[in-house]
Amino acid sequence: MKGVLYYFSGTGNTMWVANKIKENFRYYGVDISLINMESEQPINIKCYDFMIIGSPVHSGTEPKIVSNFFRKLPNVKKKIKTIVYSTQSGKSSSAVLSMAKSLTEKGYDIFIQTSIKMPNNRYFILGKKSSLEEESQVLIKSSEKVKKVIKLFMENKRLKECNSNIRMKFGRVYGKFLRNSLPRVSKNITSSEECMKCGLCLRNCPKSNITFENGHAIFHSQCMLCLRCIYICPINAIRYKGKKIDQIQKNRIKMLNLIK
Ligand SMILES: Cc1cc2nc3c(=O)[nH]c(=O)nc-3n(C[C@H](O)[C@H](O)[C@H](O)COP(=O)(O)O)c2cc1C
Repeated sequence: MKGVLYYFSGTGNTMWVANKIKENFRYYGVDISLINMESEQPINIKCYDFMIIGSPVHSGTEPKIVSNFFRKLPNVKKKIKTIVYSTQSGKSSSAVLSMAKSLTEKGYDIFIQTSIKMPNNRYFILGKKSSLEEESQVLIKSSEKVKKVIKLFMENKRLKECNSNIRMKFGRVYGKFLRNSLPRVSKNITSSEECMKCGLCLRNCPKSNITFENGHAIFHSQCMLCLRCIYICPINAIRYKGKKIDQIQKNRIKMLNLIK
């Protein structure tokens, strides 16, 4: 048995869960390939027995990069067993229901639909920063949840969380609001005098939205607010509303296959 896991991860949380999923499948002797949705690799589902999709929640819904991926995903006639998961700072999110619906429309058979709580990467915009103790508790619980979910899947059992259509509709409206406000909100991201122009943010921006001009990193209008640039900076030189951000994602972001 062989599976494929397609993911998008702005700051490493969704990738962290992807690695846990891989680890748990390995326990059952099952191999899965992890493929970043940002890569231009052709989508080839036929070589796999099952598929997994992972995405962060951005204001109640999946980021556009994920919905664009769904558009490119082929329709299937033979129902392919599928796991779909979201990561978010709240306990749950209806974004996963919205993703499951898109996949069902294409013929995929949703076996597991789950949302996994992870640290809040946008704590400086909304919410609050958790203590190290709280963060490690969240990671322990997420790890346990992944173990439970993979066990269910291996036993051929189904799990459908976050099935509220009303919540999903609200999430879509909230998501649309975020998308409309992106050009305005992303103006809050700037580089400080400390920037050494290493270019790491520029090379790894999923929207190719960063350039260097007059010795400064400039953030243009295509930002999707994934916050990767803030957490990736080796000297923490990127500011939000002029403020230095505690890089709580620093360890997890290293898991992404970054372009050095
Ligand atoms: C722009 C933005 C919007 C977010 N909106 C939500 C949200 O609506 N609900 C939620 O629980 N978490 C929200 N979060 C938190 C992230 O979903 C969470 O930290 C996620 O695990 C990040 O995954 P990543 O590191 O793979 O990008 C948001 C984060 C960002 C950057």
